[in-house]
Amino acid sequence: MKRRGFLLSLISLFGLSALSSFVYSAFRYLLPTSEVSGGGIQRIKKDEIPSGRSKDIVLNNIPVIVINIPQKGYVAYSKVCTHLGCIVQFDPEKRVFICPCHAGTFDINGNVISGPPPRPLTKIPLRIEGEEIIIG
Ligand code: FES
Repeated sequence: MKRRGFLLSLISLFGLSALSSFVYSAFRYLLPTSEVSGGGIQRIKKDEIPSGRSKDIVLNNIPVIVINIPQKGYVAYSKVCTHLGCIVQFDPEKRVFICPCHAGTFDINGNVISGPPPRPLTKIPLRIEGEEIIIG
C-alpha cells in the first residue's frame, strides 16, 4: 500500500510538471513577443537616414529599424517577428520584411503579407524635433 501511494504521488508529480510546462508554453505563445517596454528613447540625426534608407538601432534591448520612406517620412518598427520572435530582415529593394525562421513576410507598413505571423510588426513611436528623430 505504501509503495502504491508513492507511485501515485510520483505519477501525479510528473503529470503536474508536464501540465505546468504545457500551460507556460501556451501562455508564452499567446503573449505578444514584440512588446517594447522600459521607457528608453534614442535620438538619431535625420541626415543619418536619407530618403529610402534605413538604420538599425537597439531600443530597450529590442532590435528596431527606422526607415525613411519616400513621400511618407520616418517610421520605426520592432524587428521581432510576431510569430515566434525571430529577427526579421528588411529588404529595401522589395520594401518588405522577411522572417528567416518560417518565411513570414511583412509589408513596409509592418502588415503581414504571408506566413504564420498573427499580427503586424510592432510600430515604435517616434517624433521629429528639429534635426533629430526621437524614437521610443
Ligand atoms: Fe517569424 Fe515564425 S518566427 S515567421
